[in-house]
Amino acid sequence: MIAVLGATGAIGRHVTAELTARGIDHRALSRPAVDLRRPGSLRPALEGTKQLFLLTPHDPDQAELEANAVDAAVAAGVRRIVKLSGGAPAVGPNGPTSTAVAHWQSEQRIERTGLRFAFLRPSFLMQNLATMPRRAGFLPAPMGHGPVAMIDAADVATAAAAVLQDVDGPDRAWHLTGPAGLTFDEVGHALGVRYLNVPPWLAARALRRGGASDFEVDHALRMAAYFASGADGTPTDDVRRLTGRAARSLRQHLAEKDA
Ligand SMILES: NC(=O)c1ccc[n+]([C@@H]2O[C@H](COP(=O)([O-])OP(=O)(O)OC[C@H]3O[C@@H](n4cnc5c(N)ncnc54)[C@H](OP(=O)(O)O)[C@@H]3O)[C@@H](O)[C@H]2O)c1
Repeated sequence: MIAVLGATGAIGRHVTAELTARGIDHRALSRPAVDLRRPGSLRPALEGTKQLFLLTPHDPDQAELEANAVDAAVAAGVRRIVKLSGGAPAVGPNGPTSTAVAHWQSEQRIERTGLRFAFLRPSFLMQNLATMPRRAGFLPAPMGHGPVAMIDAADVATAAAAVLQDVDGPDRAWHLTGPAGLTFDEVGHALGVRYLNVPPWLAARALRRGGASDFEVDHALRMAAYFASGADGTPTDDVRRLTGRAARSLRQHLAEKDA
């Protein structure tokens, strides 16, 4: 039995669909019954499960939420944690955002438990594009002109399901990307708009006007600078290695979305 956290989200809902399609027993854990902010709700939900798919929301308290889940998994006798982490080049003690550092801290915590583990480190999700405002034929964003090896959340989920199915698979991290590094100029072209690289101060002002918190503004600008540097622009073959087929291109992602 596999417990799935974050099962209603962009990645998690595809994970549960994949597990169902593969006929793998799983338990979707969701609020209000199971809440990462209430550690007491976690352990009973994990009793009787052998693996945990650990996905926590993007949140200022992410390290604490992850720790609650890892501690509950240990207490409940879970044997393996498959963790959805941050982008591979970002995860580390000096990561570009507090979230990237929190993912690294959580990976360290999981390794210290002595449980079996796998870490899935996806690049920028193509699904993020739908949340970026477009104005009068333009896509204004502070993403620079570096390549980003963006990936469809459905491919992250298929890779996750493959890792969960391979219960005796190696304790290791996987760097999940799409098939190509794309600049935002190319992304704009695929979306039928013109990309406009805007300075961070202007992007921050637009985000604040849209109601973003200080945490969200800081995170967005730091991640934009990171992606603009091209740090996550090199595609890997890990999706194909895990699933047996190539990750979707941006054009495939957009065609499926519109179908
Ligand atoms: N976006 C990217 O480009 C990207 C790239 C690499 C890694 N990541 C990582 O991906 C993760 C986010 O995945 P996602 O995009 O699938 O997230 P998402 O769509 O925002 O979904 C978040 C999930 O977490 C659940 N959740 C929220 N608060 C909870 C709580 N207190 N207790 C239990 N469950 C709770 C939500 O359930 P409800 O339905 O109850 O809200 C939902 O199922 C983050 O860890 C992020 O760092 C994102």
